[in-house]
Amino acid sequence: MDGLSETRKKLVEAARVARQRAFAPYSGFSVGAALECSDGAVFTGCNIENSSYGLSLCAERVAIFKAVSEGRRDFVRIAVIADSHTPVRPCGACRQVISDLFGSQAEVIMANISGAVELRTVGEILPIPFDRSFL
Ligand code: THU
Repeated sequence: MDGLSETRKKLVEAARVARQRAFAPYSGFSVGAALECSDGAVFTGCNIENSSYGLSLCAERVAIFKAVSEGRRDFVRIAVIADSHTPVRPCGACRQVISDLFGSQAEVIMANISGAVELRTVGEILPIPFDRSFL
C-alpha cells in the first residue's frame, strides 16, 4: 500500500471491508471489490457463490451491477482484494465487464490482504477487447 494516494488507499480499504461479506462456502476464496465514481461515490461488492456453481458472481461484477442499477456509469477506478499470494487478478469475464463500463483508461487496483498492490489501466489488463463498435 506504500506509495498509494489516500483516495486509492481508501478504495482498497472499502474493498477489504466488503470482502468480509463474501459468501464463498464452495471455493473458500473470499473477494472484495470497490469502485469509485467521478464525484468520489463508492460502490462495493463481494463474491456470492451458489450450490449450482456456474451461478456464482464475482465481487467486481456485484459492485459494478449495483452501481449501474443505482444510475451510475461514470467510473474512474476499481479495487479488488483477496487473500492471495500476489495481488488478485480480475477474471476474464470481469475484465470484459470492466472494460465495457470503465473504458480503457480507467484504473484497476489489484491488492491482497497482506498489503501488496498493483496498479494497471483497464487497457493493460484487456488490450484488445470486444466492444460496442462491433455491434
Ligand atoms: N472471484 C472474484 O470474485 N473475483 C475475482 O477477481 C476472481 C475470482 C471469485 C469467484 C469465485 O467465487 C471465487 O473467487 C473462486 O474463483
